[in-house]
Amino acid sequence: MMKMESAMTGGKSNIIVRKVIESDLPVIAKLIDEYNPEHTPSHVPYIEKYIADPMGAAYAFFVAYGLDDVNGVLGCGGYTPDSDGAMGVYWLGAIYTSRSHWRSGIGSAILQHIIRQLKSLGAVKLMTDTGGKENQPEAHNFYVKNGFRLISERKKSDGYPEDESIYRLDLVP
Ligand SMILES: CC(C)(COP(=O)(O)OP(=O)(O)OC[C@H]1O[C@@H](n2cnc3c(N)ncnc32)[C@H](O)[C@@H]1OP(=O)(O)O)[C@@H](O)C(=O)NCCC(=O)NCCS
Repeated sequence: MMKMESAMTGGKSNIIVRKVIESDLPVIAKLIDEYNPEHTPSHVPYIEKYIADPMGAAYAFFVAYGLDDVNGVLGCGGYTPDSDGAMGVYWLGAIYTSRSHWRSGIGSAILQHIIRQLKSLGAVKLMTDTGGKENQPEAHNFYVKNGFRLISERKKSDGYPEDESIYRLDLVP
């Protein structure tokens, strides 16, 4: 029987977060396709690799679903260690929730699950990057609501390839 890992966030006790399994992949691919289809071909093999050897990976990936509908994956997200090898620094990756369930606490349940795991690993910072605030206000609000600080912004209008905002959450006081 699968271990239930987490079943709450801020009073939303009907959301379960658990490690991804193979049968979740089609729904995850659909979630990513809905927002960033160009990322699906790179994200999915990365998640498959984690499913094949979760203990051997330095990263992890999770899904969330409602307790009332155990077969319906409503969101996903994971973390990876800093690619430059900064000690205790992790990046949030591929956090997506079903648009029809936005603002139901699913994204926060996944994020808080990841934060708990990273704290237990002794992590010190969780970073994330996203598109510009103007294009993705929901992502900006989501990070700020969950305690992240905007630490850098790049704008296409200033000659960068894309708008990009980087956020940081300190995991230790
Ligand atoms: C960002 C995202 C993961 C949030 O997921 P979610 O399941 O809606 O998250 P929650 O329900 O926990 O919402 C927490 C907060 O996020 C913000 N938020 C979420 N959806 C929002 C929306 N449509 N408009 C404005 N703010 C929004 C709010 O501050 C919300 O808190 P509130 O409802 O109490 O005001 C989701 O909007 C998403 O999948 N977006 C597309 C992909 C994406 O941008 N991923 C992140 C960057 S790559």
